Amino acid sequence: MKAIDLRNKYLEFFTENGHKVIPSAPLLPENDPTVLFTTAGMHPLITYFLGNVHPQGRRITDYQKCIRTGDIDEVGDDSHLTFFEMMGNWSFGDYFKEESIELSYRFLTEKLGIDANRISVTVFEGDQDAPKDKVAFNAWVKAGIPEDRIYFSGKKTNWWGLEKGPCGPDTEIFYDTLKPKCSDNCSPLCDCGKYLEIWNNVFTEYNKIAEGKYELLSQKNVDTGLGLERVVMILDGKKSVYETELFVDVMNTLKELAGDKYIEKSARVIADHMRAALMIMVDGVVPSNVEQGYVLRRLIRRLIRHMRKMEIDMDKIVEIANITVEASKEMYPEIDEHKEEIITKLVAEKDKFVKTLEKGEKEFNKYLIQAKNEGKDTIDAEKVFKLYDTFGFPVEITEELATENGIRINVQEFNELFKKHQELSRQGSNQKFKGGLANDSEIVTQYHTATHLLHKALQIVLGEHATQSGSNITEERLRFDFKHPQKVTREELDEVERIVNEQIQKDLVVKCEEMTLDEAKESGATGLFENKYGDLVKVYSIGDFSKEICGGPHVERTGNMGRFKIKKEEASSAGVRRIKAVLIKE
Ligand code: SER
Repeated sequence: MKAIDLRNKYLEFFTENGHKVIPSAPLLPENDPTVLFTTAGMHPLITYFLGNVHPQGRRITDYQKCIRTGDIDEVGDDSHLTFFEMMGNWSFGDYFKEESIELSYRFLTEKLGIDANRISVTVFEGDQDAPKDKVAFNAWVKAGIPEDRIYFSGKKTNWWGLEKGPCGPDTEIFYDTLKPKCSDNCSPLCDCGKYLEIWNNVFTEYNKIAEGKYELLSQKNVDTGLGLERVVMILDGKKSVYETELFVDVMNTLKELAGDKYIEKSARVIADHMRAALMIMVDGVVPSNVEQGYVLRRLIRRLIRHMRKMEIDMDKIVEIANITVEASKEMYPEIDEHKEEIITKLVAEKDKFVKTLEKGEKEFNKYLIQAKNEGKDTIDAEKVFKLYDTFGFPVEITEELATENGIRINVQEFNELFKKHQELSRQGSNQKFKGGLANDSEIVTQYHTATHLLHKALQIVLGEHATQSGSNITEERLRFDFKHPQKVTREELDEVERIVNEQIQKDLVVKCEEMTLDEAKESGATGLFENKYGDLVKVYSIGDFSKEICGGPHVERTGNMGRFKIKKEEASSAGVRRIKAVLIKE
């Protein structure tokens, strides 16, 4: 089955069962400072688990583009991808465990015709925070799964939630690939690959407020995620996701380009990273040394390294990118729309990295001569680390060069330095994200409303072209990206500030209305109109000043927000400027 047909079948099935379809949110989470990318369908929907009412109702179905970089080392096996799609069905205080399980089972067996004998499941075994999930167990038995294919496990596998906020026990659905058992105890609970996890149904009824501290939410919710690429693989009887229509063309091209230097794992890494990098760029990220830009840079550099490994000409990167766009555009038309611009960025990053490699080689040669002069047969780990850290020179390449030049490097010592460095940066990022989940706290809500005021004020001062291209809010500040070709002058910034503060002082009433997308358009609301599905939307008006399509939440009146101050204005990427601003409480 084609991926697009599977997605449509899924949405259709859940529509037939009373769900409303909403479109995928972008890969870059809006208003959630805790994560760099959307890693699951629940990110954009967190507020509805907490009781905020979704304009489309209590039963929602969607598909969500996701990026997970935690699994990066597993990329290259049969089923882990950096960019993937999760189809989801959601109950916000509507149906719960039994119906969710019954719907999943029916979709897999009746709609997709998957052999029920190859399905097994895991269920939460219970602990001090939540009881053993007998309800889920019984629901599976009732649906038709024999007891000996239902496995109990703890939080590590059968609990889902982000660092804080909505969470709960889950039940995971596995498909038997018929690979041999890895041991007598082989089960869906081991990760040998025989049992492929395809679907996770989370029963989100708790709120994690601190480590080891859970409260019941005011409503019981369901969050499910069905892995699109894995299901396509199963339905097509393929052994890996790379053999499906989503990747097969790019894999064949790589085979041709590499000839007898072909390495399957390297080809898989290239195919995966290329798709992920392009999709990240579609959402406006450019390679850099911070945050999302850094992840993107690593993906591109990693794929280039694997191209080098198979001795593929660097200029072929354009061909590989084009084929990836072709294979992805039916699912994600946006990749085709932005094709020129993202491939240009990709090539620029490639050129930069190739230069880095040249510089690194020069530096390496210095170390080589030094070592030889001193009669050493090994290059110090500190130097290898410097090559890595300062010159962005991957250790595998240093190793290759060393071998070519008859000298050694101490990889173990390098790894120790590397670990130390990683530990330090992890501590740094934990600290950075310690604010916890993006929440509906008063201050975050105020910043959200301030963002709307800023958006409108920018359009008044700079012109209507100054539309939003990204937003990120923490409890400390707002960050707003918008389209504008040049630096905003101090006078213009002062005027924007003045207008925003004027609206705050007017103590305007914020009103929320629900309407169809067409009505919203007609009413003059700004927002993303390319949504294909999301029929009914929320429109927030701030007095007569601003009107935007938005999920909320917002303040009721603007009066108490404090004084708005722009702290910084800078370039974000080509044609996009970034403002950081704060609300000062006086
Ligand atoms: N949030 C769950 C997951 O990502 C189910 O959608 O697995």
